[in-house]
Amino acid sequence: MRIIFSLLISIQSVVAVADSTNPPALTPFKDLSTNMLFGTEVDPEALANDQPYADLLAKNYNIVVPENDLKFENTETSHGHFDFEHADRIVNFAMAHHMVVRGHVLVYQWQSEWLRNNYVDQYDHAPAGKFAAKDVKAILDHHIETVMGRYKGKIKYWDVVNEVVCDPVGTNKVDRSSLDTILQHSFWYRAFKILKEHGDVSEDFVSYAFRKAHSVDPDCKLILNDYGIEGYYGWQEKSLAARALVKMLLDQGVPISGVGFQMHQSYGNDPSVGDHLDKNIQAYKAMGLEVQVTECDIQIKLPVVSGKPDKVYGEPTPTDLKNQAETYYNLVKTCRESGNVSAFLTWGFTDKYSWIPWKYPGCGCALPFDKNYQPKPAAYAIEKALRGESISDN
Ligand code: XIL
Repeated sequence: MRIIFSLLISIQSVVAVADSTNPPALTPFKDLSTNMLFGTEVDPEALANDQPYADLLAKNYNIVVPENDLKFENTETSHGHFDFEHADRIVNFAMAHHMVVRGHVLVYQWQSEWLRNNYVDQYDHAPAGKFAAKDVKAILDHHIETVMGRYKGKIKYWDVVNEVVCDPVGTNKVDRSSLDTILQHSFWYRAFKILKEHGDVSEDFVSYAFRKAHSVDPDCKLILNDYGIEGYYGWQEKSLAARALVKMLLDQGVPISGVGFQMHQSYGNDPSVGDHLDKNIQAYKAMGLEVQVTECDIQIKLPVVSGKPDKVYGEPTPTDLKNQAETYYNLVKTCRESGNVSAFLTWGFTDKYSWIPWKYPGCGCALPFDKNYQPKPAAYAIEKALRGESISDN
């Protein structure tokens, strides 16, 4: 009896310790996201080797996108050689957990290095090992047929093109009078311009890629994805150029289903302020298109705790975390209430795996869960936004 009694005491004290250290329970996002899928990008190495990562992913999310593994140079590692190991791992996991999958991305000028670095501005004559415009079209056709064909019926949304709208230069806005001034003059653009001059194609590379993708998987929803286009005016009116481009595509009968806002942000830089985000979403709705938030993260500038020999950064302050949470709340709430955002994805979910510290040294902690998979204020803010509750409700 004494043994049982002391056993009970020790179980109770374990529970008490657990209660005081465990954060409040969080309802899985996927159980709350009734009119809008809620998701994240996925890292295939973490998925295979880090069980808590896989568990939290399965628990919270109902849409996923491979971070890098469906990009051109990772699927087609060299001309005509394909590798789907990582993409298959993520798609299979998603299928097993009844998740929707986004494909990212078929045409992205920065993610096709072996092709970009060897392209020459010629119609059909390229030195050995180089590619002319005619080769580029054959490569694009084969790539879309192979990659989309493999995941036909499994990938519901594909980013057909990524980052094709010009950035404003200096204080100037993007000249939106024609497709030629709106589109970045990437090697894809230049190759298709040459092909058009020779009568091989009748349109630009964006229209061509959408039509090709539609011919491979007519049931797939095809998305144009970009950054700096979230607010109604976006970054120096880049949004106006994006909407002008989409209108031109629709006028040409191009099969586009929606627009993806990447939404890489820092707090205080929140496009929902002044209703600009909702106004932009409604503008696309009026064109008959759905919107997705495809890569949201809210980076925090971290304090330097040591400068030598290398800079070491400290933790975010409680105020930073609160401001970040409010920004997440505003974005998710606006999207949910808009009625025209089919999916909201963050670019990762744990600060353990995030591209921000690599891309923006000195910044980080951009995601809703910390490095130990504990929910941050941002996670509770997202939960409230998905429930339709005020952020100050208990
Ligand atoms: C990033 C990945 O997160 C990094 O791992 C990679 O090294 C570079 O690309 N916009 C996009 C994404 O559309 O594909 C980028 O992903 C982030 C910015």
